[in-house]
Amino acid sequence: MALEDLLAVVPAGSAEEGLARHVDFDRLPQHIAVIMDGNGRWAAQRHLPRVEGHRAGIESVRDVVEGSARLGIRVLTLYAFSVENWKRPASEVSTLMMLLKRYLRLELNTLLRNNIRFKVIGRSDELARDVQDELRAAEDKTAVNRGMQFNIALNYGGRAEIIEAAKRMLIARVDPDTLDEARFSGFLYTAGQPDPDLLIRTSGEMRISNFLLWQIAYAEIWVTDTLWPDFRKRNLLEAILAYQKRDRRYGGITQPVVAGR
Ligand code: FPP
Repeated sequence: MALEDLLAVVPAGSAEEGLARHVDFDRLPQHIAVIMDGNGRWAAQRHLPRVEGHRAGIESVRDVVEGSARLGIRVLTLYAFSVENWKRPASEVSTLMMLLKRYLRLELNTLLRNNIRFKVIGRSDELARDVQDELRAAEDKTAVNRGMQFNIALNYGGRAEIIEAAKRMLIARVDPDTLDEARFSGFLYTAGQPDPDLLIRTSGEMRISNFLLWQIAYAEIWVTDTLWPDFRKRNLLEAILAYQKRDRRYGGITQPVVAGR
């Protein structure tokens, strides 16, 4: 996956093509994490119910998954539902779950065709049985794929993830003398995956919202005013180009941006 793969799905002469041609494919972020925000505001601007914003947001999910896979991003993580989102009206929660199920059913073949491996991160065992079944089926069917890792954070909370990892570590009776950051990372949902290099948040809010708290320690953060339902490959390319202009220091001295550590 690289420039030609992306150019195959963007209109010739478009803004996307211009942006794609500026990407340095040797310095792509290995892992991009996205806080998808602004669905409700998108709907309100159109005098539509909030759920219409979520419905429209699915098209952005499709576009960004396709764009990331074609670019050659190793891991894409989308924050779809937090442990705090249960506080929303029951009808909104059930519509979100219905949209998720429908997305998986409609997109499974695309995921398979594109060699994408799907995984849920979060307390999926607390979701409704039918949602769990759909998620498990998508995980099982894509488990052999070796292309992009696509994580959906569902019923996810960063602090809850760290607590769960600590519990698993205690159960595994890890010797405290052998415990280091790498070992601890192996107990998180994202075990074996590189940490995010780039964290994108849409709709302008400057918050982390309990997302991947451990993993984003050194991530570059890029916030856009664009609302999630308006976010497309073009915006993803803008984020990657901004990332490639950053100096990543990891607490040390200035060094050119390189993926991973
Ligand atoms: C934030 O907008 C968005 C969400 C809480 C859910 C995002 C979910 C989807 C796009 C659909 C399902 C996902 C997948 C991966 C198929 P908000 O409602 O907080 O917006 P607001 O801040 O403007 O109110």
